[in-house]
Amino acid sequence: MFGNGNNNKLKIFSGRANRSLAEKIAVDLGSGMGRISIGDFPDGETSVRIDEDVRGRDVFIVQSICTPVNQNLMELLIMLDAFKRASPARITAVLPYYGYARQDRKDKGRVPISAKLVANLITKAGADRVLALDLHAAQIQGFFDIPVDHLYAVKELAKHVRSLDIVPDELVVLSPDEGSIKKALDFQKNVGGKIAMIDKRRTSATEVKQGHLLGAPIEGKSVIIYDDLISTGGTIAGAVRVAREFGAKKVYVGATHGVLCGKWMENLAKANIDQIAVTDSVPLSPEKMLPNIKVISVAGLFAKAIQRIHGNESISALFSDESPGEKK
Ligand code: R5P
Repeated sequence: MFGNGNNNKLKIFSGRANRSLAEKIAVDLGSGMGRISIGDFPDGETSVRIDEDVRGRDVFIVQSICTPVNQNLMELLIMLDAFKRASPARITAVLPYYGYARQDRKDKGRVPISAKLVANLITKAGADRVLALDLHAAQIQGFFDIPVDHLYAVKELAKHVRSLDIVPDELVVLSPDEGSIKKALDFQKNVGGKIAMIDKRRTSATEVKQGHLLGAPIEGKSVIIYDDLISTGGTIAGAVRVAREFGAKKVYVGATHGVLCGKWMENLAKANIDQIAVTDSVPLSPEKMLPNIKVISVAGLFAKAIQRIHGNESISALFSDESPGEKK
């Protein structure tokens, strides 16, 4: 067993990146939030002070590595350092959104593997384990030499889609590129319908070309474009255009991480989308709440996982089926 007596009490702390999600998780766990002061020194450096005793505690630090990415990452590292020096029994970095995940390989010469660097930094700063959600590539788990528990929002998003009452015969799940096909297939397994995929080619960091459609016909169908994240919205806007060109009757979008940066507003507002569902892994400011955006909370999922980690119980048992991206 982990810890002993009262001293192994679970404690949830939050950085400033996604405090609303951390608070919901704490409510679900009935644990209350740990007390911590985080601020900025006049020169921009981050200051952290833990305002309660954490000696021997099972500490969970919630921080999304979302915009401002470098600030939120540095804040996480400084929090980890503060906790490491305060003698808790264990520190888990809870990362609803893992920034830098898309830089996960050398796809051209002389570029970094920043996703690996971030894993090294988190480990070195003091995390004993990591709890993450829909990593861009499941292989990122292997960048850590500490245990990583990997959650999937597919069931939360599928539950929302079922509430839309789409006739299964009319439903097609559409992967916007080949990289998301396994995730889309897993989603389709949860919602039913057929599967299709768009042939997407990236021409630069900000530009993509989409054209051909592979798989089930979508004319007259309700299409759900499913992806792990929406960043500038270029991929989604292009997929919507293809779906409409091929005669889709309704177009919905489901994605775990609503990063929404750069030209996202222009891209998504112009696209003809019936509804966009994202989770609260990244907080959406009021100006990002377009009328057709629906936020699905993953607080309950994280609360269950944290409870299980704390109690040394299986996380995979949370997902009755095989996990996406891990099928052989
Ligand atoms: C690509 O591999 C990802 O799954 C997303 O499709 C992509 O990162 C989204 O980026 P954007 O919204 O900027 O097109």
